[in-house]
Amino acid sequence: GSLPVANVQALAAASRDVPERYIRPEAGAHPVVADCGVDIPVIDFSRFLDPNSSRDESSKLHLACQNWGFFQVINHTVPKEVIEKMKLDVREFFQLPLEEKRQLAQVTGDVQGYGQLFVVSKDQKLDWADVLYLNTQPAPERCLRFWPTRPLTFRAALDNYSAEVKNLADRLLEIMAKNLELNPDVVTDKFKVGIQSVRFNYYPPCPQADKVLGFSQHSDADLITLVLQVNQVQGLQIKRSGEWFPVKPLPGAFIVNVGDIFEILSNGRYKSIEHRVVVNTERERLSIATFHSPKSNAMIGPLQELVRGSGATYRTVNHEDFMKLFFSSKLDGKSFLDRMRC
Ligand code: SIN
Ligand code: FE2
Repeated sequence: GSLPVANVQALAAASRDVPERYIRPEAGAHPVVADCGVDIPVIDFSRFLDPNSSRDESSKLHLACQNWGFFQVINHTVPKEVIEKMKLDVREFFQLPLEEKRQLAQVTGDVQGYGQLFVVSKDQKLDWADVLYLNTQPAPERCLRFWPTRPLTFRAALDNYSAEVKNLADRLLEIMAKNLELNPDVVTDKFKVGIQSVRFNYYPPCPQADKVLGFSQHSDADLITLVLQVNQVQGLQIKRSGEWFPVKPLPGAFIVNVGDIFEILSNGRYKSIEHRVVVNTERERLSIATFHSPKSNAMIGPLQELVRGSGATYRTVNHEDFMKLFFSSKLDGKSFLDRMRC
């Protein structure tokens, strides 16, 4: 796991001073696009289910993946009750006393549990957030020692949420793979969710919000990520033409993004986009990011049918080495993916 660092929630509660380790010169360095009336594309999932609109919506999804790498999906298949219950329970979890959450603290050699991720050196800058990170699929491989027992319904809520979100991820992946005209064997082998993990994010308010980052700029090391915003506090920004572009989630929507593994498999047809999280001076922010990757024995490398003609842009490595490399890297934009280039 990560090197042990302070709990940010406790830090924020104890003092209005922000320790030097959290001060990020780059936090205010890039211009943020002001409200320009444009938003990330909205995909209406119900339109895939209607033969009269499914082709149109698929084209829209293709363009969203190609031109944005990010989209929101509304009218999707995850039941509202499942979402609301998960939101309720994760709020309650982060409100528990610190000693109780600490019982789920990360341990050396594992990324799961309560704490901070990507802390790889004693002097690196830190993110203004506490996280609970859990492997959720395949179910038999869950490490229940890190799963909250309070609130009492947390485990059941996550079990339901995990299964429903995985199902939605699989359906989106299938449409995305069809849009790339991949043959069904490849889809079953590489574009089906094998591994899922969930990262619950708690971003306390910060008196110097413009000098810290809730989540350093990074791209996700998976196939596809579905993010649920738990409360109405905005903070996610994506990098677009060199500027930070704020994402404004619609109620009930999932924010979906193409991950590094998708970029690699597609040999760069779809790109995983850098993003980061900024925090608020007054209000805490909560979100749930769900990561999806192929099965653990899948090789991660450009697909033969997408390499023809142009040559492979990325190396091929096994999944385990890929993940080890990722979690031992400092989060720094797409520098991790750059190390996978040929
Ligand atoms: C992320 O997982 O990169 C962003 C999560 C969030 O919006 O808080
Ligand atoms: Fe991310």
